[in-house]
Amino acid sequence: MTTVSASGKRVLLIIGGGIAAYKCLDLIRRLKEHGIGVRCILTTAGAEFVTPLAVSSLSAEKVYTDLFSLTDEAEMGHIRLSREADLVLVAPATADLMAKMAHGLANDLASTALLATDKPVYIAPSMNSQMWTHPATRRNLETLQNDGITIIPPGEGDLACGEVGAGRLAEVQDILSTVLQALKHDNPLQDLRGRKVLVTAGPTHEPMDPVRFIANRSSGKQGYALAAALAARGADVTLISGPTMLDCPPNVTRVNVETAQQMQTACAETLPVDAALCVAAVADWRPAQRATQKNKKSFAPAAGEEQKTQIDLVENPDILAWLSQHEHHRPSLVIGFAAETEDLLQHAADKLARKGCDWIIANDVSHVGDDAVMGGDNNQITILHRDGQDKWPRSSKTVIAEKLAARIAAQLGAMPE
Ligand code: CTP
Repeated sequence: MTTVSASGKRVLLIIGGGIAAYKCLDLIRRLKEHGIGVRCILTTAGAEFVTPLAVSSLSAEKVYTDLFSLTDEAEMGHIRLSREADLVLVAPATADLMAKMAHGLANDLASTALLATDKPVYIAPSMNSQMWTHPATRRNLETLQNDGITIIPPGEGDLACGEVGAGRLAEVQDILSTVLQALKHDNPLQDLRGRKVLVTAGPTHEPMDPVRFIANRSSGKQGYALAAALAARGADVTLISGPTMLDCPPNVTRVNVETAQQMQTACAETLPVDAALCVAAVADWRPAQRATQKNKKSFAPAAGEEQKTQIDLVENPDILAWLSQHEHHRPSLVIGFAAETEDLLQHAADKLARKGCDWIIANDVSHVGDDAVMGGDNNQITILHRDGQDKWPRSSKTVIAEKLAARIAAQLGAMPE
């Protein structure tokens, strides 16, 4: 793969009509700081949220809006507009814009340019969480992914409409790094082509009865980001996922599982692979019995006295150790994660030795506030390997995933076939 600088490349940014449109002003500024030319189409709805003057001032280019552009064909037609860019980015991509794209409508400048482009298209959706999870949006999303459009997934949190949930425009930093990554390579990110990789992600749920289970706080974000980054470099990625709220990244095969035992079976069915990344927060224990009917309170509550009960637990398979010591199909590279709340590096080093994997990625999950690692968007890791350890600065899970994917590609590339 030839790496080239993103500087000097051009982005056509289509700004849709959502409250997050104001974040595009920062995005334009950041892209320009990296030497990227930004030409913007502002939809009629987008112009309700940001002014053409603000956009043109920051991009230092004329802004194209339906008002004058549709009568302006002689100066810059929609075909030229969409072809002169190296990449087309839609941010925020509203439910309406996504629906238009999925159906191939071309009734305004933005949709016409999107239909006419021959360049990679990236979209960063942003909308109310009900709209995001609506079956119509799900259908459109699937169509867009099948059409080869890359989705920069929205985050979760407080939405401008006052609700809380998924649908918040991805962080500007994450949109920026995705775009930079895509522009940086003339044969984008294909150094893992031909490599098969398995990623486990998310929590496992260990049922006690049909309605109750043991679980943990894992959101699956780091594992999904890694699967996305590896697939973007051309790897054939199987993502074996416990229950999460996340969308399957583009060009990734997802196998949904619930329990640790199902996760191990799915891994066994995926072998052989070149690399295995165990990012899942697998429950170490499962209830010894799984009742077929909902468990009932079996005691008579006595006034003023707290009752006690017990759950018998049995040990789950350790998937990372099993893969690391696999008799027939030990992957060339096995990577585990150590989520710790104390003595981070000591526990991580013990795990590296005990499980027999090649790298352990240590992360401190002791903090449970707003910026907690578990469930949050940021992470800070130290990679422990046979020859030492490397501490990386705190950054978004997407950026960490991209850096890890690059390191995995370098490691696999250096190994004898
Ligand atoms: N792991 C696994 N199967 C298990 C438990 C853990 O594959 N049954 C993997 C995780 O995916 C992670 C690594 O092992 O890559 C470490 O997981 P962690 O929960 O931190 O460690 P444990 O082995 O469970 O040890 P402890 O609970 O004592 O910290």
